[in-house]
Amino acid sequence: MNISNIKEEFPIFNNKIQNNDLVYLDSANSAQKPQVVIDRVYDFYSKEFSNVGRSVHYLAVAATNLYENTRSSVQKYINAKDKNEIVFTKGATEAINLVANTFGQKYLNKGDEVLITELEHHSNYVPWHFLRKSKKINIEFAEVNEDGEVTLQSIEKKINNKTKIIGITHLSNVTGAILPVKEIVSLAHSKGIPVLVDGCQGAPHLKLDMQDLDCDFYAISGHKMYGPTGIGILYAKKKWLEDLPPYQGGGGMIKEVKKQGISFGDLPNKYEAGTMATAQVIAFNESIKFLEKIGIENIQNHEKVIVDYAVETLKKNNSVELIANPKNRGGVISFTIKDIHPHDIATILDEDGVAIRAGHHCCQILHDKLGVPATARASIGVYNTKEDIDKLNSSINKCKKIFNL
Ligand SMILES: Cc1ncc(COP(=O)(O)O)c(C=O)c1O
Repeated sequence: MNISNIKEEFPIFNNKIQNNDLVYLDSANSAQKPQVVIDRVYDFYSKEFSNVGRSVHYLAVAATNLYENTRSSVQKYINAKDKNEIVFTKGATEAINLVANTFGQKYLNKGDEVLITELEHHSNYVPWHFLRKSKKINIEFAEVNEDGEVTLQSIEKKINNKTKIIGITHLSNVTGAILPVKEIVSLAHSKGIPVLVDGCQGAPHLKLDMQDLDCDFYAISGHKMYGPTGIGILYAKKKWLEDLPPYQGGGGMIKEVKKQGISFGDLPNKYEAGTMATAQVIAFNESIKFLEKIGIENIQNHEKVIVDYAVETLKKNNSVELIANPKNRGGVISFTIKDIHPHDIATILDEDGVAIRAGHHCCQILHDKLGVPATARASIGVYNTKEDIDKLNSSINKCKKIFNL
């Protein structure tokens, strides 16, 4: 795979950022956008704009077809059984809130348990916390081990007859650990428990097959898949979408509205209330095409080479401490450097054009467990190279020098 060709597709790399070439190592936060995606947003607004699913004029019908084409592309990309199992949301956060809210409303009662893990992003904890308040449910946490992994055994240990749903990340946005999702789903299903997967970090980097994974719900973030902001996807098995109540009420999601009562629209309209992020959904089709053109296996292989190189390089750098060592890892590496605050590390690296993230990465439960308030995190995307890792390492050395390490 010729990475320099791929990098050329991203206009952000054509410009200097504060007089530096950009070394972008923050894709777990949000990925950069290829020109095709940017152009599609522009073209849609310039030449084709209309709202979707409402009017019958030419532009409205054409826009509706484009919007539905993205749904079909996503279905194919993640190998969902049915196009109507794809619900557009504003992001993965909204997708998880949709599940917590609707499943919680129908199936959770006082004393029931929701099992999540210590690795979860706040997006897969806070929505369940609301139910702890409103419905008096309990939240259990499967433990992370010292390599930054959550194993099948640690999930099994926490399952009991009060467990009503399990929510797990596919790939940790802090430790990089890839969870044994298929095995966890199979275990949970053997006990009649549905599984929600936070696929934010999985979807841009791993081959997805919903029918093989067999999870009940899978949340995806469009902006981490080289797509626009404002678009997310909830994959849910049809039986759940038919069974659960709607999430939000408004136009587009109803069948009939009378003073005496309301009936809801067919799938997926039932879950897409109000005007959706039309341009973003339509442009997201270009992200899928972009990923398909390169091939997810090629992306996975390339990113593995880069992450292995990064781990090897940083392990050799005295004073740098990697906070996890998962056996099955994606392109996320979190680290600390002796007493230097991660925000200072990120600020000094930024002076060289090296963009990383510092903080708790919306995973305070995990950072509490690690016993540090914050970490520095380098995360890899399809455009990263070994040279980027060398620049990261030399900027870390500069940072150490400033702090006399
Ligand atoms: C693991 C994980 N879950 C959830 C989210 C939230 O996703 P979104 O920004 O699409 O709402 C993120 C984003 O950082 C994430 O990394």
